[in-house]
Amino acid sequence: MYNESRGRSETRFPDTSHTMPQPTPPESLSWQGDRLGSLKLIDQTLLPTELKIIDCQNADTVWEAIKMLRVRGAPAIGIAAAYGLCIGLKTLPTNADLDAFRTRLDEVAEYLASSRPTAVNLFWALNRMKAKAESLYHTGNVPAIWDALFAEAQAIHDEDRHICRAIGRFGQEFIKDGSTWLTHCNAGGLATADFGTALAVFFTAAESGKTIHVYADETRPLLQGARLTTWELMQRGIQVTLICDSMAAWVMRQGKIDGVVVGADRIAANGDTANKIGTYGVAVSAKAHGIPFYVAAPVSTFDLTLTSGSEIPIEERSAEEICEGFGKRTAPEGVRVYNPAFDVTPSELISGIITECGIISPVNRENVERMVKTLH
Ligand code: MRU
Repeated sequence: MYNESRGRSETRFPDTSHTMPQPTPPESLSWQGDRLGSLKLIDQTLLPTELKIIDCQNADTVWEAIKMLRVRGAPAIGIAAAYGLCIGLKTLPTNADLDAFRTRLDEVAEYLASSRPTAVNLFWALNRMKAKAESLYHTGNVPAIWDALFAEAQAIHDEDRHICRAIGRFGQEFIKDGSTWLTHCNAGGLATADFGTALAVFFTAAESGKTIHVYADETRPLLQGARLTTWELMQRGIQVTLICDSMAAWVMRQGKIDGVVVGADRIAANGDTANKIGTYGVAVSAKAHGIPFYVAAPVSTFDLTLTSGSEIPIEERSAEEICEGFGKRTAPEGVRVYNPAFDVTPSELISGIITECGIISPVNRENVERMVKTLH
């Protein structure tokens, strides 16, 4: 029966991605010009049917792009916010004094911070930018501080590329040639500067010559898995099979999955991890089936100010995303809806956290603190 169902699904959804490698996908974010330039973003809400680049010329456009998930994924949100701060400063006259500069910087930072609550990379990037400015206020040299802030945003962007590659190198050690993996949501190049976190593990394994197969959960309600993860994996020539979220446990029971890798939006000091809604269910299923469950995330995703996952703020989004996703009404008008965008996976369900500095395993407070502090 299992083979029969496997055969049917492969006939209906022929997977030819491995025979047709595509060019590397375009960058999710890029900056054009000097410090008075603009931020170009792939509008991820339109993928995979339309590849449109939006040009953010003011802080409102950046805020809206983050809020509406045109740019999404924890590291990408942080990078967008850092550039967004530079864009918000453009309303200042070129001869602005230090007080005006400082007031505007705080105002834009607070505004951008209000766009989404869960991914800590947003606040991490804004705080890093503010700390850079604060370290230079004593000079009183506004143009120089402005230049330094722009350089800081570029550094955040550039560092993320190296971080993704390092996560990929550490994580690919877990991937055996010929193995099959499951991922949830999109933690790929679109969600970062270029290579992803969870998907970097697969990309690096493939680059090192391993043949792998990835099952992608579609990720209700906004379908980041169906729309973005499959697109990226196919673009890079990795075999991918799309499943509905509700199929993951059954696919594990059928023995099709060797391991799970997902990304993260915020990791508390004890290792409890917030990620896209549905991740917790995947972790519970993986535990029940004896399948290793890994989280891949940069150190900037850890929030050591929170002792456990119960303190992580969970974004709630509109009812329309569930009842009228992508323009089609799928539930009665007026139905009560609950739409948390993230959930928290307790650390005891996580086999290891793959960071740019190495692997945290077992996942506990002591090991998390040791790893995060190596970078500070
Ligand atoms: O709501 P989204 O699409 O921004 O949620 C994204 C996720 O949950 C990702 O898994 C996470 O941000 C890691 S991205 C490297």
